[in-house]
Amino acid sequence: MKNKICNCISEVLQEFSNEEIVTFMEIPPEESMGDFALPCFGFAKVLHKSPKVIAEELKEAILPHAEELGIERCEVVGGYCNFFLNHAKYVESCLDKIQQPGFGMEQIGKGKTICMDYSSPNIAKNFHVGHLRTTVIGNSLYKIYEKLGYKVVRINYLGDWGTQFGKLIVAYKKWSSKELVEEKGIEELMQIYVKFDAEAEKDASLMEEARAWFVKMEQGDLEAIQIWKWFKEISMVEFERVYELLGISFDSYSGESFYREKVPALVEELKEKQLLVESQGAKVIDLEKYDMPPCLITKSDGGSIYHSRDIAAVLHRKQTYHFEKCLYVTGLEQSLHFKQIFKAIEVMGYDWAENLVHVPYGLVSLEGAKLSTRKGNIIYAEDILKEAIGRALEAIQEKNAKLPDKEAVAKMVGVGAVLFHDLFNQRIKNVDFSWEDVLSFEGNTGPYVQYTYARAKSILRKGNYKGITTEEQSTGKQKIDYQVLAVGTSYELVKSLSGYEDAVKKAAERYEPSIMARYIISVAAAFNKFYHECPILHAQEKDKQARLYLVDLTQRILQEACSLLGMECPEEM
Ligand code: ARG
Repeated sequence: MKNKICNCISEVLQEFSNEEIVTFMEIPPEESMGDFALPCFGFAKVLHKSPKVIAEELKEAILPHAEELGIERCEVVGGYCNFFLNHAKYVESCLDKIQQPGFGMEQIGKGKTICMDYSSPNIAKNFHVGHLRTTVIGNSLYKIYEKLGYKVVRINYLGDWGTQFGKLIVAYKKWSSKELVEEKGIEELMQIYVKFDAEAEKDASLMEEARAWFVKMEQGDLEAIQIWKWFKEISMVEFERVYELLGISFDSYSGESFYREKVPALVEELKEKQLLVESQGAKVIDLEKYDMPPCLITKSDGGSIYHSRDIAAVLHRKQTYHFEKCLYVTGLEQSLHFKQIFKAIEVMGYDWAENLVHVPYGLVSLEGAKLSTRKGNIIYAEDILKEAIGRALEAIQEKNAKLPDKEAVAKMVGVGAVLFHDLFNQRIKNVDFSWEDVLSFEGNTGPYVQYTYARAKSILRKGNYKGITTEEQSTGKQKIDYQVLAVGTSYELVKSLSGYEDAVKKAAERYEPSIMARYIISVAAAFNKFYHECPILHAQEKDKQARLYLVDLTQRILQEACSLLGMECPEEM
């Protein structure tokens, strides 16, 4: 409606474009001042007229079109032209739009591809809460971009190469066995890795051995590669369990080991472009001009490293997927790494360097304590999810023991709680993980939102609501009286629902799922106010039908918005 009004104004004020007028348009602080207000001060200089005169002229010009614009009246106050909408009309147009699934938003990303690099855990290391964050944030961004019509390539860039595997092989041969690794999985691998570090401090020859094994790996030695592959398989089984709990999958698992083979070609290209500098036997790209430490390309033994593998990876991704953008969701502590990578791509002469985006997130602590593998203060993502599901099941037993399909609901609620907790705050903020916050049914939590959704569903069931087809709408057989919804908390709820599209777009623009999470909370809060204030099932037929219709659209928006966070909503709770 705002757009339509601005369009009409721009025809009168031909000196100004529609876009300019849209930026001037304000939402007044008080309802008595209208739904929209156009301050005319900015036009005065150009038009050589006083703001008040301009406002009066606009009012006169708008009035003949008021009906079609959904405007009830205009008032000129000072230099402002205030527009009062016909609220019933407004409600109708908002709800009509929501009624159409998809909202036509898929046009925004149509024909464009986004590569998303997220989750990317390290083989033989635990999948900890930090990895849970990248997984959950990345998955939500994937859903948001997909909603906007982008083709999204989900890439799990496994940390599956590096000197640590030399250490692991030595440790495995010395202190572990096939049976133990098979039985205890990553936990065993982590344990022997820690033991290796401790022992290597006392005995320097261990490091020599580890280096030798890694060299063997790089040379493709059969035994070394076999053990490494096996560690990878063992790890993948555990990672997949977490993905299964979260309902997440990927399009590519090409990780560091895949790209190390592409580093020699990268080295050639860099040589040709005269970008390689020798530094103590290693080869680097000098980034001093840009106030950054040099970007290491090969070590003195010629092997690749994290940086060069990442550069090779993004070159390959560009060739393979022709992405519009490539996003990397990792911890904030990797900021410098990505700055160097993006700069390297730029100095190589690729103008698409500007389409590479690091999407960082803050640290996770556990009930106030910093997480650290070495100090043993770690929590596995899987344990958190399972614990959350277990606690949700307990709560259900206690509060609603007759609920059908308890296990499935507990899974949705437990996982939803963890997801929502992770996504509610701006991603850059640190997260302190506390059980009490995560599973609370009050405040800004997943269970609160799911409960609200289930409540809406239950009202629809009790009201025997069948839904209204667009045809019924247009033939007037089931005509909704929009006036019923144009007041008080119903009207507030309609306004809140109408913010959905904007929330999705903003979340995508800022790579910020928290915008969706906060939007969901605002809808849930508006719905609960409406529910407490307006009788639905016991209202008169005309009011009941209108309100049920609003309840139906609310549950749809809640469900859809939650799905953009990767969260499912149970029908009953
Ligand atoms: N494996 C890394 C880690 O666990 C994250 C990898 C991020 N992606 C990348 N292309 N560097 O910290």
